[in-house]
Amino acid sequence: MAPAAESTCAKCGGSGWVIQERDGISGASRCDCRDAERARQSERNARIPPLYQNASLDNFLVPSDNPVARTGLGTALLTVRAFVREFPTGDKPGLLFIGDTGTGKTHLAVAALRALIAKGHEGVFFDYQTLLDRIRASFDKVSGASDREAYSTALEAPILLLDDLGAHRATDFTEDTVTAILTHRCNFKKPLIATTNLPDQDVTGRAIEYITPGGTPVGKKTLSEVIGMRARSRLFEMCKVIRMPAVEDYRMRKSR
Ligand SMILES: Nc1ncnc2c1ncn2[C@@H]1O[C@H](COP(=O)(O)OP(=O)(O)O)[C@@H](O)[C@H]1O
Ligand SMILES: [Mg+2]
Ligand SMILES: [Zn+2]
Repeated sequence: MAPAAESTCAKCGGSGWVIQERDGISGASRCDCRDAERARQSERNARIPPLYQNASLDNFLVPSDNPVARTGLGTALLTVRAFVREFPTGDKPGLLFIGDTGTGKTHLAVAALRALIAKGHEGVFFDYQTLLDRIRASFDKVSGASDREAYSTALEAPILLLDDLGAHRATDFTEDTVTAILTHRCNFKKPLIATTNLPDQDVTGRAIEYITPGGTPVGKKTLSEVIGMRARSRLFEMCKVIRMPAVEDYRMRKSR
């Protein structure tokens, strides 16, 4: 027996076209079921990790018990909604989420990508570390096709989601590669959605001190120390920056 999901569309009988009458003249127009099928295919192409497959703007919760988190996360959510609504004509072609682990950066970044896919755009999710490992592997003679494609995908994907930017040891290779990707995308105004848990430098250019959950202040490397000044400046040029508020790690909040 054929699974229910494959049943033919009642509106168009599976042809993809519906006949509509307007002012006494009948004509064919595309059936909605084709848009839904296209969106499902684009979501598969986007390679969103299973953990975030259902992350959406609608299931991003804004806590009511903590005013700081409420305002901060509420503003973040509104900014993402506005970005999606205006896309692709907004003033910046990208979003950059900065904040600690567990504050919902990847959730919101994926939600934005999925909302854009639902609007008919195409994009791809890449974990930063995986991307750099693949690009490096592609220089090996024995590398597979998927490694070789990684670099061109990062350059050319209509929308690139780069998750956990800077989560890779800083080497000349990583700095050069990320600079090349960001410069190319910036020059061609290619949309980028990125997340990072590295602090940005403060106005004096010094690293912001980072307090561990145990309360110990440690000097954390800044974004520009890890990805380089040039890549950082491209990133800020093309992205609207969303600073996540200091909220308790969502995973821990939920397990309480
Ligand atoms: N405000 C929120 N509402 C609903 N789910 C959330 C929220 N914040 C985080 N999550 C969920 O908690 C988990 C961790 O969030 P994640 O986006 O991975 O955080 P980050 O990328 O900042 O480390 C994910 O499963 C995510 O869907
Ligand atoms: Mg994340
Ligand atoms: Zn149909």
